[in-house]
Amino acid sequence: MTYPMIGESKTMSEICNLKGVILAGGLGKRLEPLTRITNKHLLPVYNKPMIYYPITTLVDAGIKDIMIVTGGNNAGDFLRLMGNGADFGLRHIHYTYQRGEGGIAEALNLAEYFSDRSPIVVVLGDNIIGGSIKEYVEKFKKQKNGARILLKKVSDPERFGVAEIKAKKIISIEEKPKVPKSDYAVCGIYMYDHKVFDIIKTLKPSARGELEITEVNNAYLKADELRYDILKSWWTDCGLPETLYRAASLVRKKEKA
Ligand code: DAU
Repeated sequence: MTYPMIGESKTMSEICNLKGVILAGGLGKRLEPLTRITNKHLLPVYNKPMIYYPITTLVDAGIKDIMIVTGGNNAGDFLRLMGNGADFGLRHIHYTYQRGEGGIAEALNLAEYFSDRSPIVVVLGDNIIGGSIKEYVEKFKKQKNGARILLKKVSDPERFGVAEIKAKKIISIEEKPKVPKSDYAVCGIYMYDHKVFDIIKTLKPSARGELEITEVNNAYLKADELRYDILKSWWTDCGLPETLYRAASLVRKKEKA
């Protein structure tokens, strides 16, 4: 099989099918003891398991070809829970397994074979949003190459990747800076062309021993191929007891509205 190269005249959507990747590996240590006997992404967020939300995010954006990268405890339970994705109107879900906790970029690298050089939308398994990402995905599809990320103003930027913006352009992204240069957190929803896997192969583990997704985004930034949008809806992670609780409250409020 031959693949068209990304050229001047073609957009992402003309090149090939957009695929979705959900990263649900890692050990969820910040939620101990909740995660001692199960996987973080199987924990309840109001009335559904956490993993249901990122799948819905992709399906609502029209992405039906999805791989879940899982890991740690009870990976087999993902199959028992979701099977081939009938709850989401899917005919098939792809799964793969990450050993240990080598970082978000390491987990993403496991989806290279699945991606088959298609552009991909990546959602972190513990990121939940209040609306749709369809409008941002549509903009990404019109890009000829590169990456697109979503930013959201937060009150605790030091917990996230933080984007410094000048004259509407991203100048830098820092992972969990002690002194953040802005209040704009990088959400765990990333859109990449096929070059992402070449970039990951150049990464070295950070001080916390992980291949950092922020380094991937900085590589696109350096190549002047990083675009962004400000996410309009609410957004939260579920990695801490406090944010897991907040996620459940936000979802409940949305469901009751
Ligand atoms: O939530 C957004 C933030 O997520 C970004 O702003 C940061 O730039 C990014 O590094 C990440 O920060 P965290 O340190 O909070 O990510 P965490 O380690 O909690 O991992 C988030 C999800 O990524 C997790 O639910 C599953 C997946 N993951 C993580 C690791 C470390 C994996 O699949 N494998 C891994 O090895």
